[in-house]
This record gives sequence, structure tokens and C-alpha cells, in this order.
Amino acid sequence: MTITNFLLGEHAVFYAQFDNIEARLPEAESLPQVKSLGGMLAAALASHAQLENELLFDALDPHFGGSGPVAVMRAEHEQIEGTLDQIPAAEELDRAKSLLLHTITLARQHFAKEEQVLFPMAQQVLDDQTLSELGAQWAERRKVVLSS
Ligand SMILES: [Fe+2]
Ligand SMILES: [Fe+2]
Repeated sequence: MTITNFLLGEHAVFYAQFDNIEARLPEAESLPQVKSLGGMLAAALASHAQLENELLFDALDPHFGGSGPVAVMRAEHEQIEGTLDQIPAAEELDRAKSLLLHTITLARQHFAKEEQVLFPMAQQVLDDQTLSELGAQWAERRKVVLSS
């Protein structure tokens, strides 16, 4: 199994989480409730982005000189985290809701670019052994047992 397979699997779980938050938000009536949803999403997205940065993107950097599509994806991670970081300080319910919905929109767009551009590029640039070794590192970091 390769690193890109595993990261795609994480995206699938996020899509379910995005759908769930989008369905619940219109009925959310308290600021702490929205902040709690934002906090859970922030923690999950931060750990996903960190694994991408440290495993896949670091492996791709030598091929792109730290610029190009990899730099764009790293910048988008920061943009998404920056939006989520504003939620705890929000003083109005509508403001917190719109920040959370905006984050989900940004994340969906970002994930689509990874799935359609970056991951296919990684599968071309990195050899099969590297992709599998990075997959094994992913499993170790996520504490998932891989049968050999
Ligand atoms: Fe990402
Ligand atoms: Fe991703």
C-alpha cells in the first residue's frame, strides 16, 4: 500500500465529517457548540496536514526545489489552519458558523487539487518502493497494523 492510497482514505473520512458538520450547523444554536465542532475538525485536519507535510511533501521537495505545486499545497494547509484558528475568538454565532463553513469549502477545494493533481504527480515522480516505504511510515504514525 502506498502513501497516496492512505491519504486518499483519510480524505474519504473527512468528506463524511464535512457533510455531517454542514448538516448540523444550520440548527446549531450555541456558540460553544460551534466552537466544539471547529475544535474537533481543527485537530483532525492538523494531524492530516502534518503527515502530508512531513511524509509526502518532504519527499517531493527535492523534485520541485521547494516550490511549485508542493509549495502551493503547504500554503493552503496554513490558510486552512489560519481560518480555523479564528473560530475560538469568534464572539457571534453567525461569525463562528461562517468561519467553519468557509474552512470546509477551502478544505474541499484543497483536497480536490491533491486528488487530481498532486497525488497523481507524486505517483509519477516517486518510485514504487519509496511510495510503499512512506506508506509504512504513515501506518506507524497512525498506529495502524499492516500485514506484510
Ligand atoms: Fe493537504
Ligand atoms: Fe490531504
